[in-house]
Amino acid sequence: MTHEGFSAAVIDWQRSHGRHGLPWQHTRDPYRVWLSEIMLQQTQVSTVLGYYERFLQRFPDVAALAAAPIDDVLGLWSGLGYYSRARNLHRCAQAVMTDHGGRFPGSSAQLQGLPGIGRSTAAAVAAFCFGERVAILDGNVKRVLTRVLGFDGDLAQAANERELWTEATRVLPDAGIESYTQGLMDLGATLCSARSPQCLLCPVQALCVAARNGNPQAYPVKTRKLKRSTREHAWLWLAWRDAIWLLKRPDSGVWAGLWSLPEFDSHEDLYHAARAWPGHFETLPSFTHTLTHLDWTLHPVRWTLPAAADDAQAAACTAPFSEGRWFSLDEALAAGLPAPLRKLLLA
Ligand code: ADE
Ligand code: SF4
Repeated sequence: MTHEGFSAAVIDWQRSHGRHGLPWQHTRDPYRVWLSEIMLQQTQVSTVLGYYERFLQRFPDVAALAAAPIDDVLGLWSGLGYYSRARNLHRCAQAVMTDHGGRFPGSSAQLQGLPGIGRSTAAAVAAFCFGERVAILDGNVKRVLTRVLGFDGDLAQAANERELWTEATRVLPDAGIESYTQGLMDLGATLCSARSPQCLLCPVQALCVAARNGNPQAYPVKTRKLKRSTREHAWLWLAWRDAIWLLKRPDSGVWAGLWSLPEFDSHEDLYHAARAWPGHFETLPSFTHTLTHLDWTLHPVRWTLPAAADDAQAAACTAPFSEGRWFSLDEALAAGLPAPLRKLLLA
């Protein structure tokens, strides 16, 4: 995609078809723009309009907001939801007064350090108020850009999110950042909706990978963060005359194809299986093995058969674990073993 073609199409469309009459447009006052961006973070334009006017009447500038009791701020916010926004708004106004002499700092990098101002909000304020050439990436803009670029990295992963920021920066126009930024917001809020994008009306249709492939709804890709699960097993270290009984694990799943110890759902199950065995046992320290989405706690038990036990007695003990065989310690250490088992054998 030529990014000049993309940004030029967004800018032209914004000028002819985008939104122009919103009360936070046609001003370069960072206080007004910042206030609108915070209100719009989780709330629709139609809801924000009334709140925005009342708020500005009561707190016409950042000094007035900073000086107000928090209860007054929360009172004017009530109904907008996400009240941490209002608390941060108040704290941010106070920080602007005390740390910046009553003036919002003039770059996205500095704005980003203030309470409640993240990277995208800082960029929006800096683009609208200072003409800074910097990318925004709120939920709507993520949807537009992933579709246009065919960006299918999973945004649940930080590396992919960073890559999308890089792409968003790469496609910025050389001039006209204000219209471009507003245009991306407007496209995301109107034509490029989550459920029914109007690709036939869209100014960037000819460049849009998702439109060409007929699958805009596939973007953005964001899996739910998998909940970690836990699993516990008792682990049987069966020893006989310096040998150890190892089982070949199945070809799929955790430790596929490696040699490992027989597993039981619990100590009771293990002791039940071993109830008629000769010899003695020791419980060894438990440990937790961490896999990508699983914490697996293993409780090893070493069961030592008497050296005097004969082949038939030993065979009776190992009969339930017929996928295995006896290994000398050296043989075992030379075989493919799960790392925690190797550690256990060497401990
Ligand atoms: N959502 C976030 N910022 C916005 C803006 N400046 N105009 C319209 N919708 C928005
Ligand atoms: Fe969104 Fe369709 Fe436009 Fe692509 S062509 S940006 S999917 S509305």
